[in-house]
Amino acid sequence: MSALDASPQASEFESPSLGAQVADLKVAFENAYGAPPQWVVAAPGRVNLIGEHTDYNDGFVFPLAIERYIVIAAARPENPSADDAIRARSTMMDGEAEFRLSNLQPERRDWTSYLRGAFAGCLDRGLNPGALNVLVDSKVPLGGGLSSSAALEVATATLVEAVTGQTLDPVEKARLCQWAEHNYAGMPCGIMDQFSSALGAEGKLLLIDCRTETAELVPLDDPNIEVLVINSNVKHELTGSEYPERRTQCEAAAKTLGVKALRDVTSEQLEAARDKLDDVTYRRARHVVGEDERTSAAAAALRSGDWDTVGRLMYASHDSLRDDFEVSCPELDVLVELAAGIGSEGGVIGSRMTGGGFGGCTVTLVRKGREREIAEKICTAYKERTGGEATPFVTKPAKGSHIVQD
Ligand code: GLA
Repeated sequence: MSALDASPQASEFESPSLGAQVADLKVAFENAYGAPPQWVVAAPGRVNLIGEHTDYNDGFVFPLAIERYIVIAAARPENPSADDAIRARSTMMDGEAEFRLSNLQPERRDWTSYLRGAFAGCLDRGLNPGALNVLVDSKVPLGGGLSSSAALEVATATLVEAVTGQTLDPVEKARLCQWAEHNYAGMPCGIMDQFSSALGAEGKLLLIDCRTETAELVPLDDPNIEVLVINSNVKHELTGSEYPERRTQCEAAAKTLGVKALRDVTSEQLEAARDKLDDVTYRRARHVVGEDERTSAAAAALRSGDWDTVGRLMYASHDSLRDDFEVSCPELDVLVELAAGIGSEGGVIGSRMTGGGFGGCTVTLVRKGREREIAEKICTAYKERTGGEATPFVTKPAKGSHIVQD
């Protein structure tokens, strides 16, 4: 049996169909609430090709929305317990949660935090959906570093748009979802994940300038290239102290260097000011400054089809995240090492950890036609090296959040 067959989600190596997910969810909704849904919305997860831990430094990121969606179905309840009562269920767990739009309890932490936070952000902007029954389904692996939480927030805001018939500016939608993550999930994230989920475009990478909150769409349409994502299945937990600590270190570095954010520093300037920073702060800053430069360089190389350069920059990004920013983990390092070992002769262009780190996934660019063989090799060797089961899948850049039915 091959590694792909042995993987619990073997059939999911290719992208699951959004149409089938929606159809299944409609049936599940009717079973749960006794009537069909009136509204169905979808928001994708994301994978970041390069530009890690740069978003909260006003820098550049280069993600794509993935063909894995969180879908929410909803309807007006027949006899709501109150005119602002939300009943929420998920296909991933039993039971029902209930809350009121007039009392969204930011300090309460459970899976509905993301919904409550997004509802609160919408209410602040004058969009009030009223009482609803909702059912959530996810094809974005949870806690896998593919932004399932951002997808849930953005899907919720999209649901509010569908129900109220009002449209949020997409960047404003991303911002309100980022606010939800800060205030209802306690995670001081940057804008990348919510932005990618809200504004993702089919066939396009997003080169996001996180200072201006604008994105250039860069086509990923080379028929010889595939994006392979491999989940280490090591769960990342970003509400731990590491992420806020990294943010604080970056802010301290910017302050010492006399700039608004590390975005404003070049490698040369950083080297010239090295004496002013302690070793850890210097290395954190070196990662961010270098990563910004790598991200711009990777976007330029990708545009001109210079895959060798893109690959080299991806490996350099991983090394920097591992050694200077210290957000990788042994399992992610093994996955990248195995991909590098296959190398360009074997069809691998480049590989790196993606997302916040401490677990989650790697992103690997591979030559079309070699993706299964490469995934199988890596996952088999990963099992031998770590004892763990890695889950691979391929994706193309996908459409961002949208209303499926209203
Ligand atoms: C998490 C955060 C993002 C970003 C990445 C690291 O995914 O939510 O805002 O900071 O980590 O690049």
